[in-house]
Amino acid sequence: MDREEAIQTVKARLSQAGAVAVLTGAGISADSGVPTFRGADGLWRNFKAEDLATPEAFARDPRLVWEWYNWRRELIAAKSPNPGHLALARMESQHARFLLITQNVDGLHRAAGSHKLVEIHGNIWKVRCTACKQVTDNHDVPIAIPPSCLSCGGLLRPHIVWFGEPLDEPTLDQCMGALASCKVLLIVGTSGLVYPAASFAPIAKAAGAFVAEINLDPTPNSQLVDVSIQGRAGEILPELL
Ligand code: OAD
Repeated sequence: MDREEAIQTVKARLSQAGAVAVLTGAGISADSGVPTFRGADGLWRNFKAEDLATPEAFARDPRLVWEWYNWRRELIAAKSPNPGHLALARMESQHARFLLITQNVDGLHRAAGSHKLVEIHGNIWKVRCTACKQVTDNHDVPIAIPPSCLSCGGLLRPHIVWFGEPLDEPTLDQCMGALASCKVLLIVGTSGLVYPAASFAPIAKAAGAFVAEINLDPTPNSQLVDVSIQGRAGEILPELL
């Protein structure tokens, strides 16, 4: 199937689907200029995840971890949603049931106008108190280090799911519900290597969904999906509307 045929096939499936789920990863924000994690210039090529994105790293050196998040906050604050984010925001009103599941923490889906959205890895613009656990919005760039909770004075951490931490249970349940009942699952710009999101395509496929992937490169999901469209998310998603 050539690219145009693949796009038309997915478009036709979407137009008939009452229930749609979408899973996005760093690739959708790459078209806004946000670095991915595992590509040629990916963050995990230049930084060690175990020094920056684990609870142990934060316990060891909260200042270092916050400096890294401040650098990312500054980078992301200068970026805007691209036509891929905007297409998904429009898509949610075209289906009776819709859920956009993102692994991204950059907030660009919400900025694009998506509401039926779950940010399974958290959000870089939220902080959580390590003492009282309260979650609050924080858009400071840079955030004063070390940041402290306005309610109890405890140390604040990024409201992000780090390696070795579980996803929020109700959020995961919401994802599972959408994956079990969707007629179409679109997987956009994710390497498909990080669990549990890496299991979402096989779960939806086993439940009978038509599964399509949009990615610049083949991924572990490419063998399993019904249609794989190779290309930029920011170019292809608008064509699916
Ligand atoms: P990765 O960096 O692992 O993968 C990005 C994927 O996007 C790759 O498969 C690229 O081929 C693809 N890609 C790049 N540019 C693209 C474009 N313009 N259009 C379409 N596809 C493109 O990012 P994720 O799969 O999102 O965790 O990584 C998963 C998690 O690992 C992240 O959420 C992050 C990281 O550690 C947390 O932040 C907790």
